[in-house]
Amino acid sequence: MDARDLARQVRAVGSANGLRSVRAAWRRQRTDARDLPRRGPERARVPGAAEGADPLPGGGLVRFARSSLRVRVAAGGAVFCGWDGAEPEPSYALAGSCPDADVRAVMEPDKDGWRVVSERVTVMVSRHGAVEFRTPGGLLLRKDLPPRWWDPLGSRDGAEPRWVQRSETAADAAVFGLGGRASGPRLGEGSYRLWNTDPDGTFEPETDPLYITMPVQLVVADAGSHLVFHDNTWDGRVTLRAGEEGAGSGHDRPGGCEVRVDGGPLRYWVIPGTPARILTAWTALTGRPALPPRWALGYQHSRWGFGSAAEVRRVAAGYRERGLPLSAIHLDIDHYEGHRVFTVDRERFPDLPGLAEELRTGGVRLVSIVDPAVKEEPGNPVHDSGAAADAFVRDAHGGTVRGVVWPGDAVFPDFTDPRVRKWWGGLYAERLAQGFAGVWHDMNEPVSFAAFGDATLPRSARHALEGRGGDHREAHNVYGLCMARAGYEGLRELHPDNRPFLFSRSGWAGMQRYGGTWSGDVSTGWPGLRASLSLVLGLGLCGVPYSGPDVGGFTGSPSPELYLRWFQMAAYFPFFRTHSAITAGRREPWEFGPRVLEGARAALRERERLMPYLYTLAHGARQSGAPYVRPVWWGDPEDRKLRACGDAFLLGDALLVAPVMEQGATERAVRLPRGLWYDTATGEAYQGPGQVLLPAPQERIPVLARAGSVVPVAGDDGSVVLEAWLPAAGRTGGGLLVTDSGDGWAEPRTERFTSRLADGTVVVTRDGHDEVGHAVRVRGAAAQ
Ligand code: NOJ
Repeated sequence: MDARDLARQVRAVGSANGLRSVRAAWRRQRTDARDLPRRGPERARVPGAAEGADPLPGGGLVRFARSSLRVRVAAGGAVFCGWDGAEPEPSYALAGSCPDADVRAVMEPDKDGWRVVSERVTVMVSRHGAVEFRTPGGLLLRKDLPPRWWDPLGSRDGAEPRWVQRSETAADAAVFGLGGRASGPRLGEGSYRLWNTDPDGTFEPETDPLYITMPVQLVVADAGSHLVFHDNTWDGRVTLRAGEEGAGSGHDRPGGCEVRVDGGPLRYWVIPGTPARILTAWTALTGRPALPPRWALGYQHSRWGFGSAAEVRRVAAGYRERGLPLSAIHLDIDHYEGHRVFTVDRERFPDLPGLAEELRTGGVRLVSIVDPAVKEEPGNPVHDSGAAADAFVRDAHGGTVRGVVWPGDAVFPDFTDPRVRKWWGGLYAERLAQGFAGVWHDMNEPVSFAAFGDATLPRSARHALEGRGGDHREAHNVYGLCMARAGYEGLRELHPDNRPFLFSRSGWAGMQRYGGTWSGDVSTGWPGLRASLSLVLGLGLCGVPYSGPDVGGFTGSPSPELYLRWFQMAAYFPFFRTHSAITAGRREPWEFGPRVLEGARAALRERERLMPYLYTLAHGARQSGAPYVRPVWWGDPEDRKLRACGDAFLLGDALLVAPVMEQGATERAVRLPRGLWYDTATGEAYQGPGQVLLPAPQERIPVLARAGSVVPVAGDDGSVVLEAWLPAAGRTGGGLLVTDSGDGWAEPRTERFTSRLADGTVVVTRDGHDEVGHAVRVRGAAAQ
């Protein structure tokens, strides 16, 4: 480490922790040098020639000279492929046990190998281990070439075969997902690492990887869409290469994908279908997204560095006095005593339950940050109870692994141990007693400050892995996921009548079962604004629909214009929160002058008005996995121009939001999916597909409504009003309204509306009856 690195480190974590982090980095390096299985001689292996196949439920097993492949179609249409004896379970991604096999899918010999025909996909296995997935019409979705392994020679404890799998997709394929990537939403050519990482301070669109990496790709092509999920938690890389139509002598060059992983099983799932069907099947497999309590869809304010209860009161009063709605305030690590998790600095927050109660009366909840690292300090009750429960991660020799985080020297709960999850979940009783209504998991990649090298635990650190035992190489990427599980289950047990509100910086496939996430430390600047949309869209396509950025960016001070544009965009995201670093400027909407305040007020008002719609989308995500925020190609995946469009999004089916992403812009080009669309501000109608130029004055960003949609909104008195956008001539439309008490587990009520044109006006019916039960406001009449 050179002097500059040290200075940077000291600045970032404080001088005492700076020196600690130098020691911690040495310690981690020494531990791994001692305990990590060394890479020795290896032998490369490919499956070799097929020797035969045995039918099994949902498909069969193909035996090769040096491996075997299990193909198993599950009920619901997802196809599992497991090499070398890999089974679908155990898996951190799957919700519950593996779905039953579709017994109608049978493996049969074919001229070049074997085939398994199922309702949605035909799988063909060649005699050398290539696997093709074709649509029922015979179009190729993906072709996985025979994999290659590097087997360690001799017996070295813990040494694992590495493997690589190369695949081909259609020449026109576009790839999305891989967790939260700042450079998307469509992932360009290049290499994406699979190792959850805190980018250290802030990130830009080109920073990779970030906090949530997932081997989940949604591939969209003319032939059809599919999701592929490599169920393996180890460190790895996905390298993408774009295809090209008519590349060489008129032949297409297929799209290329290479997945390279340092260990663990080679097993993967392929889910074909429309994007909506894929997300339904994916969340059936890995769990439906947790439904947040209704208040969590309201606007929230956070900051690292609220100095005291008085400052929190001042901020809440600032919103109240200006008539700006505020749903929650988040307290960061500075409300802890000496940065110790599950404590309160009683000098600065002498009566937190009292403060929580007072805010609650004004409709504002308190949300608490929860970091996994526990200060290593005998006498600290969390430390002592964890030590007594043998909760902390140990090294290969039984010593406790020590790292450095905000409180100084710290130890780390092993959330891959069910016992430890139970102990940790119980600790949330203290947060509830302090009056907190929700939790915000941070630093759970996990981070341990390091002056050099990887800022996490030693790779050789031991983990329970549900009793199987293993090390951090396998556990790292699921650490945040397992912490989320601990928190979620703890909260459910402590407050069985409430839906937990939990969001987590790090996670993995399946994390939606426990809650949502946020952007992390996105840099303040126009590229950061763009990156925040990429993250929300990409995560949604990986099954994690509830997310949003730090409005205004985490660092520094946004210009008034940038702040407002960010605010306007995030007003349409599920998680709508301002947050910033302790060293950053203010983020209250009134800190940027009267024009910004009025712009923010309008955005907040619109957010409130859309609440019935947003809540319906939250229930929709819960029921079908469809994200609230969707790429514009969601309903038109065959429209290539839409696939390339990363600067707009659909909010549900009805609205298309086109945020302003450029400084000084007062109009913007918007690419429309097919159909008729109305500019919600002017009522002007535009026919898609195509591109239109729309006004985007500083007061608002363009939002379009799909003709025919019925959008439930809040009327002035709070009752639901159905906003019925005029259907296009000869067309019908519709919408949904899902309601419940806002929390708890009672069955929601769903109302289905259809709309049609009769004598030039819109007729809305509910579940087939003329009695709609809500006021109807017709919009878009200017178009006719
Ligand atoms: C890192 C988080 O990403 C950020 O949101 C938080 O403010 C700091 N940690 C301090 O807790």
